Amino acid sequence: MANILLGVTGSVAAVKTPLLYETLQHSGYAVKVVATQASLYFFDPAAIPRPSLVLDEDEWPGRSVGRRWQREDEVLHIQLRRWADILLIAPLDANTLAKLANGLADNCLTCVWRAWEPGRPVVLAPAMNTLMWQHPATGRHLRQIATDMGAAPPTELGLDGLLDWINTNCPHLRIAAPEDRRLACGDVGVGAMAALDTIAAVMQSVLDSG
Ligand SMILES: Cc1cc2nc3c(=O)[nH]c(=O)nc-3n(C[C@H](O)[C@H](O)[C@H](O)COP(=O)(O)O)c2cc1C
Repeated sequence: MANILLGVTGSVAAVKTPLLYETLQHSGYAVKVVATQASLYFFDPAAIPRPSLVLDEDEWPGRSVGRRWQREDEVLHIQLRRWADILLIAPLDANTLAKLANGLADNCLTCVWRAWEPGRPVVLAPAMNTLMWQHPATGRHLRQIATDMGAAPPTELGLDGLLDWINTNCPHLRIAAPEDRRLACGDVGVGAMAALDTIAAVMQSVLDSG
């Protein structure tokens, strides 16, 4: 079974991280979780066994007490990239989406992304407020990511058309479309993270397609 690197970012939907981790594990995958600082506001990191949970501070062991990098130390984000067969980012918040599209690499997860070969599979499960989702930046960023992964979408597509286009035409990239329902902030509209079984099915489909 595949090695899944599960990136988790600072959306309310990160409350589901322990359940998503368990679901993937019970399906037989080996799972490691790379969590951003902001995501830790939404789930208890103690719910994931420590060797399987990677935090930003793990990239810099001893830094807070003045230790310096030693030649035999590993570079964790590169180790994780080598280990993983697939990168799943669920939830993907607006901030990290923007970083992925622009190539910023200021935490462990975005360093993994920046070191990821475009030919290896990626699944993104965005989750954000409806107006954040409908903001023109969302389409711009998703289009840029698809282009960076080897398939440039036509410019005239709206968001729904863009997701369909990416899921049909980008062999190594799938977007688990956010759902239309009442959001944690009280607004009703598109932006809730896709259901966990949908995310698992999307992930399996990209793995099956090789
Ligand atoms: C209570 C709360 C809920 C949030 N929910 C979301 C969300 O669902 N989607 C989103 O894009 N940002 C959300 N944010 C904003 C992100 O947490 C913020 O942009 C953060 O800097 C993201 O950091 P990261 O991308 O490094 O995880 C929320 C912030 C707070 C305080």
